[in-house]
Amino acid sequence: MSRRSLSFRRGTGTADLLTRFRRPLVDARIRKYNVFPRPQIRKESQGYVGEMRLETVFTAADIQAAVARLAREIERDYRDKNPILLGVLKGCFVFMADLVRALNMPVEIEFISLSSYGPRRTQSTGRIEVVQGLRKPVRARHVLVVEDIIDTGVTLDFTLHYLRRRRPASVRVCALFDKTSRRKVPVSADYVGLTVPDCFLVGYGLDFDERFRHLPGLYCLKEDD
Ligand code: IMP
Ligand code: MG
Repeated sequence: MSRRSLSFRRGTGTADLLTRFRRPLVDARIRKYNVFPRPQIRKESQGYVGEMRLETVFTAADIQAAVARLAREIERDYRDKNPILLGVLKGCFVFMADLVRALNMPVEIEFISLSSYGPRRTQSTGRIEVVQGLRKPVRARHVLVVEDIIDTGVTLDFTLHYLRRRRPASVRVCALFDKTSRRKVPVSADYVGLTVPDCFLVGYGLDFDERFRHLPGLYCLKEDD
């Protein structure tokens, strides 16, 4: 694992980010992903602004190599099948864009959008809701689900049930990142890019309260001492 890291200090967004820590939605996500167990008020009350560090887990080059490898595996299995690549928004959007451009074969692209939050978006309901479902039938089609990351597996499990009710010819899963150690539901991907550690990850489509999705690598969000 590379030791390169990006830092975000006051004046470049950290103050804003730390303010956001106290918002209930963020608190819920912090609890869900077990990050920042230490008090966050301390430094600020002393006139400091704490620092968030993004430690590189995979560089952009590591990720591009994994995407290219996945594309070769998918080509081998789907060359004559005209598959539907079904992305689960929002996290998949960067991966999907790179994956389809790495593929040397025709594919169709669809998206669904799922949410595990209620209408107020302040607390996880623990229940997945379909924000936007499939716009076209997948009956008798070969569907490849494109996921950014599998964590507990709850989202993927839901997606697979949602799809199978619609009678596709086949369903397989391609996940760029796999946080295997956190699984609660026994689901797995047929094509896995990179196995990742149990830490809160951002970049390459993954966000922390809608931030950091644009970063080209994958980073572990850390709080500095
Ligand atoms: P699961 O249902 O727990 O498997 O989580 C799936 C979704 O949660 C992913 O598609 C991501 O959108 C999000 N997620 C899981 N782990 C992380 C992370 O480390 N950082 C950011 N988002 C994550
Ligand atoms: Mg996702």
